[in-house]
Amino acid sequence: MAQTIYYVASTLDGFIADPDDSLDWLLKQDIDENGPMNYNAFIAEAGAVIMGASTYEWLVKHQAGTGEKWPYTQPSWVFTHRTLPGVDGADIRFTSAPATEVHAAATEAANGRNVWVVGGGDLAGQFTDAGLLDELMVSYAPVTLGAGAPLLPRRLDLRLRETTRNAAFVMAHYEVIRTNADIDQPR
Ligand SMILES: NC(=O)c1ccc[n+]([C@@H]2O[C@H](COP(=O)([O-])OP(=O)(O)OC[C@H]3O[C@@H](n4cnc5c(N)ncnc54)[C@H](OP(=O)(O)O)[C@@H]3O)[C@@H](O)[C@H]2O)c1
Repeated sequence: MAQTIYYVASTLDGFIADPDDSLDWLLKQDIDENGPMNYNAFIAEAGAVIMGASTYEWLVKHQAGTGEKWPYTQPSWVFTHRTLPGVDGADIRFTSAPATEVHAAATEAANGRNVWVVGGGDLAGQFTDAGLLDELMVSYAPVTLGAGAPLLPRRLDLRLRETTRNAAFVMAHYEVIRTNADIDQPR
């Protein structure tokens, strides 16, 4: 069954970007592109992409140097209160609609595939607040930053489904515990 998944890379101390919105701590790490929980396998199963404006702006800025304007073929929703420029040829839908509304549209567009919540952390939190997040897949880099953009600034109970190693990273896969019935299930 299709899931709504926050797939993200984090420092050990729970930051997904440094205070200057830099990912240099992440991009320098060794990763096996064919290893466990790898990005290529994940994105192949995703049918829609959801992100906040800072993440969008970071992507546009950093894609510019790669010769490829936009990394996703999936329809992508970008939460913003501003009027942001789009990317030629990309299916990008700017929105400030409620998370439930955007999720319904993304789920329909995904047509049976997963919905990827890219981040940031507060946006993932808005999806958890609305009971829309099913899973977290976190790639923990071997670094601490002490400050930055938080992974998921909410109180949330999770069930650990799997951990594995991919090169420098600890890969951790969790499901969100939503109800008492879930909590009572044997582990
Ligand atoms: N390590 C990773 O895997 C990873 C993954 C994702 C992101 N990142 C990085 O982490 C940082 C995250 O930045 P961030 O925490 O600022 O998060 P963000 O979610 O990317 O952007 C926050 C912005 O999204 C808009 N927004 C959020 N909720 C909204 C809502 N309900 N309605 C309308 N607009 C809404 C607002 O933009 P407006 O001001 O336009 O209204 C808000 O300022 C970025 O540097 C990003 O590149 C890292």
